[in-house]
Amino acid sequence: MNYFDKIKTAPLKEGALILAIESSCDETAASVIKGGREILSSVIMSSITEHVKFGGVVPEIASRAHTTAISLTVQKAVEEAGVSLSDIDAIAVTYGSGLIGALLVGVSYAKALAFSLEIPLIPVSHIRGHVSAGYLADIKLKPPFIALLASGGHTAIIDVKDYYTYNVLGGTLDDAVGEAFDKVARVLGLSYPGGPNIERLAKEGANAIELPVMLKGKKGYDFSYSGLKTAVINYVHNKEQKGESYNKADVACSFQCSAVGELVKKAIKAVKEKGYKVLSVGGGVAANGYLRESLEKACKKDKIKLVLPEKKLCTDNACMIGAEGYLQYQKRNFADLCLNAKAYVGLGENNE
Ligand SMILES: Nc1ncnc2c1ncn2[C@@H]1O[C@H](COP(=O)(O)OP(=O)(O)OP(=O)(O)O)[C@@H](O)[C@H]1O
Ligand SMILES: [Mg+2]
Repeated sequence: MNYFDKIKTAPLKEGALILAIESSCDETAASVIKGGREILSSVIMSSITEHVKFGGVVPEIASRAHTTAISLTVQKAVEEAGVSLSDIDAIAVTYGSGLIGALLVGVSYAKALAFSLEIPLIPVSHIRGHVSAGYLADIKLKPPFIALLASGGHTAIIDVKDYYTYNVLGGTLDDAVGEAFDKVARVLGLSYPGGPNIERLAKEGANAIELPVMLKGKKGYDFSYSGLKTAVINYVHNKEQKGESYNKADVACSFQCSAVGELVKKAIKAVKEKGYKVLSVGGGVAANGYLRESLEKACKKDKIKLVLPEKKLCTDNACMIGAEGYLQYQKRNFADLCLNAKAYVGLGENNE
């Protein structure tokens, strides 16, 4: 019997141990997750310092760094979990979206390991992973709920109807919110990744600069961060061309207030309109302190339960891939050895 024929019929285990691998961008990450909810280990090796001088992630450098780091990262994750490879029941791997060369390192490694251990290989969408971070933050979290996704490449309000059925109520029409943070940071002379640097600078400033209202007069849940970003860039260039001084901290603070305000407003509106009681948040921008405080305040006011994963579960990590991997394991969503990496997979197979 070949590998996949054996896997297709293998019995499922309650509380299975999933080894998860994530390599979609500049973090090489591995984690062991028990039963989709319990983190036994989490190891993250980042190549970010190698990209800073280029002002963004360089795909070729990221791929090479993954190749160097992946074996050690997986080995550490298994050791820290206090298990051995023979205890692992399945391997979950991010197969998209992300940088293709970077993804291929994780996918190839996961394939070889799953084949040699004769255990299932589970393909996971990175974006579903960000949403599933909520299941680790609150082990009792159950759909339905609204998920706010705010990351480097995505901004969306998602109606999580059940563990597998997502309905995207709205998303960005142009730049993602994290991308806008990074681009505004660049024009202010702050290094990559811009989000944490904008957050730091914003603390020294005030919301003193008037910026355009996003999608003014439009109802619904869409976002547009391109206009906001361009308004900030124009403000800075205008001041510089005229030789006028301006307060960078005020620019950072005003941008952050506008960018975050829209996320909070639309997420709360969605929870209320759907008649749900829970809002869960995921993606790198959800590590932003001002967003976290604003969501806490708004949810308290409207008696909404807020599921806010700790910061290291918001930015890229393998734990969230393991949490989503366990859900897919229960559905027997197993890949054969032809699994390929994809630059774009959105929410995955059924909920594009
Ligand atoms: N404290 C923060 N405040 C605002 N933005 C932040 C903060 N920390 C990280 N970010 C932003 O989060 C983004 C990185 O998040 P994440 O790792 O999820 O993105 P990604 O994996 O590149 O994109 P995606 O998940 O959409 O494929 C960057 O744009 C970064 O600037
Ligand atoms: Mg991400």
